Amino acid sequence: MNKFKVLIFLISAMLLFQYCSKKNDISEEIETLPTTVTGAIALENAPILPTSTYSYLINFPAHIQANLSANDNTPNNNPITNDGATLGRVLFYDKQLSKNNTVSCGSCHQQQFAFDDNIALSKGLDGSLTTRNSMAILNLRFYKSGKMFWDERAATLEKQAFQPIQNHVEMNLTLAELERKVSALSYYPALFQKAFGTTAIDSIRIAMALSQFERSIVTYQAKYDRVKQGIETFTTAEATGEELFMNALLPNNTCASCHTPPMFLTSNPIRPFSLNDTNDLGINNQRRFKSGTLRNITNRNSLFHNGSVINLQTMLNSGGQGSAIPNIPAHSIGPQNVPNMLAFLNTLTDNTILTDPKFSNPFMK
Ligand code: HEC
Ligand code: HEC
Repeated sequence: MNKFKVLIFLISAMLLFQYCSKKNDISEEIETLPTTVTGAIALENAPILPTSTYSYLINFPAHIQANLSANDNTPNNNPITNDGATLGRVLFYDKQLSKNNTVSCGSCHQQQFAFDDNIALSKGLDGSLTTRNSMAILNLRFYKSGKMFWDERAATLEKQAFQPIQNHVEMNLTLAELERKVSALSYYPALFQKAFGTTAIDSIRIAMALSQFERSIVTYQAKYDRVKQGIETFTTAEATGEELFMNALLPNNTCASCHTPPMFLTSNPIRPFSLNDTNDLGINNQRRFKSGTLRNITNRNSLFHNGSVINLQTMLNSGGQGSAIPNIPAHSIGPQNVPNMLAFLNTLTDNTILTDPKFSNPFMK
């Protein structure tokens, strides 16, 4: 009898220990924010965040830091803070920011595709399509002029945020509706308190937090970066590709003069450029478009402002023998150069960005 009791005691103790240690594992890792709204829906939709915030403040390697110092478009009144970027992350992935709760910023800017998507035109909240290709939310703070969209119609990243929210195809809320919806969600006051020192929620603070999160998405851990830091070396093909990109391909009109290292981005390109498109004339109807960063371009398909160029290979081979599309000036480079250029462009891919939890969706569905 006694032996039996001891056995039962031991088994219960073991089970209890297992249960507790499991629980501890989870509660150490995550903290579910308070949900005062009753009902399963609010609980289900609350974001799951780490107990101590992720660090969004990075010490970049010297070659990146120098470029950032010269080009950073972060306004003085909205520097990145860990709490601001955390709030921005929640807002970025919150489908409540759309009229019918089906679309978030992250629907068209997906982490796995370097915060772009993989289709020519994106689907908005009722299934209808955007008029242009989605853009990668990557290294945005290195675009000196700060202008956003293919046609640069938003003067700053902060101002940009209001557009998808109000766009009828994308999220379709008025700013008053946005403020009402966000204010009604139980997890936001605490997040706004931490980020801005007030629980007051308005569209300006929403845009500021979104911008902090977006500016924190920076690639600096690609092979290219390790080579520039002297930790690794390029293969012969990669080095030949870099030479073509920087110098040899088109005298006085190189790839680098419009896609400038180390972010392969510049708001001051050597001359305007547009893919041939009679329906869309871009910036001030001048047949020119912004180009975003070429970093992580290998993670994306459907390129250029209308998404009509399927991938890098198609672009580099355009107009050549057997090409599916006509020549794209300054972008078609001749078959003998294609493997080297591809090898080089591959070194710009920073895979850490695709899975880094601090940029991931905090709503576990
Ligand atoms: C339905 C798809 C969709 C949704 C939802 C969406 N976007 Fe976009 N995003 C796009 C498209 C398409 C473009 C390019 C539009 C253009 O240039 O006219 C774009 C462009 C951008 C740009 C410009 C990047 C650059 O380099 O100029 C930023 C920043 C951006 N979106 C952020 C956001 C934020 C923040 C949200 C949520 C509040 C959001 N997007 C929601 C499709 C979407
Ligand atoms: C005169 C400036 C200019 C030069 C030179 C140039 N580009 Fe571009 N590039 C652009 C612009 C502008 C766009 C976007 C145009 C559009 O969408 O209509 C673009 C688009 C791209 C894209 C698609 C980006 C995306 O996000 O969809 C890639 C890839 C690219 N360029 C690579 C290259 C390479 C490689 C070279 C050299 C062989 C090169 N570019 C030369 C200006 C230039």
